[in-house]
Amino acid sequence: MSPAARSKIHAVYREMRRAGPIHRVTDPFSGAPAWLVLTHEGANRVLRDTDGFIRDASSLMSDEQRTAAPPLPPAALALVGLTHKDPPEHTRLRALVQKSFTPRRVDGLRARSRLLARRLLDAIDGEDEFDLLAAFAFPLPILIILELLGLPGEDYARFRGWSEALVGDDIPRKLEVAGIVRAYLDPVIDRRARTPSDDLLSGLVHARTSDGERLSRDELHAMVIVLLVAGHESTVSLIANGALALLTHPEQRARLLADPALMRPAIEEMLRFDGPIDFSFVRYASAATELCGASIERGQRVFVSLLAANRDPDVFDAPDRFDIGRQARGHIAFGVGIHACVGAPLARLEGAEALLELSRRRPGLELAIPAEAVAWRPSRLIHSPRVLPVRGR
Ligand code: HEM
Repeated sequence: MSPAARSKIHAVYREMRRAGPIHRVTDPFSGAPAWLVLTHEGANRVLRDTDGFIRDASSLMSDEQRTAAPPLPPAALALVGLTHKDPPEHTRLRALVQKSFTPRRVDGLRARSRLLARRLLDAIDGEDEFDLLAAFAFPLPILIILELLGLPGEDYARFRGWSEALVGDDIPRKLEVAGIVRAYLDPVIDRRARTPSDDLLSGLVHARTSDGERLSRDELHAMVIVLLVAGHESTVSLIANGALALLTHPEQRARLLADPALMRPAIEEMLRFDGPIDFSFVRYASAATELCGASIERGQRVFVSLLAANRDPDVFDAPDRFDIGRQARGHIAFGVGIHACVGAPLARLEGAEALLELSRRRPGLELAIPAEAVAWRPSRLIHSPRVLPVRGR
């Protein structure tokens, strides 16, 4: 997790993968022993075997342990949404959010993404040197999520602060913000319950399963928080890492400008080459098992490096080469299995619109520092530069 290792993370994983498909590590957050899977095959096994590798460790507790555990404060309920659940609860929540994530609603955001990208580029039109991350990559995804949910764009600054706290590791602050978001959402949810509009929040408030069940108020809070957290920084990083790949591969950028229809495979290649997310969410072994030749004990944590799996030479030819024409099918930047990203169509669309506008408007843009000097965030989750200094027009 050190900044030095993060800045050459692909080389680190290449070495580790050569030494073996799975490694014993320490969970940097809890300090507990854990496993890290680095191959495409191992990643698929863990993410698809939802009986063997579960998300909610509390189901492994004995009745006594469960009774002895302190009750969660009410705001904590808003922090354990869809991503933290296993079937059957996950199946129900997922069906409800999937219903609201209609292709029409997502596609409706294409023109909006383009317009927002243009406005952000207008705002820096006079500048020859700027941070592409702060000026362009960062604001777009959160504005789009607000639009998707039907929340006012003027609340951007507030959501930005909340989102930052919610992805952070400061638990008391997270709980405080979860409480603030709940209080913010309640009157909005009440309004949507009385008078639905065309947004995703109305969809979530009114969605019903085939048994007529709906999301409870706690589940609605948690769902909005999951969408905000899962959809924001990951998409920022798709735009930033995609721009970086294009800036450091001018021949690929020229190909894209000559044939914008290549944007579709190019986005897949960006997701494969330098995906926005490194580790999947942690999984717990539900029973002692064998994985990639290692003996995993019941309850042990297993992480999957999506970045390493997406450069597995057994699956991708010359994996360290960035080639927008390669049709990078089979990358797992959005995960696989039942937890695979619900927002993938939206993320692809935002990335494509943003990067096309940027390439057209600033075809002469270049990195203002050597590529090796780009500082990456020391995060196991988000794989993104901290800043992206660029210059030129
Ligand atoms: C390029 C941008 C994105 C990337 C790379 C990405 C990646 C992922 C990955 C890897 C997972 C699965 C994690 C795991 O299994 O441990 C996931 C789940 C999820 N993503 Fe995304 N995501 C992106 C954008 C979005 C957007 C824009 C939204 C919504 C607005 C979103 C909403 C979700 C949700 C709700 C889940 C949980 C699904 C479940 O547990 O069933 N994501 N995402």
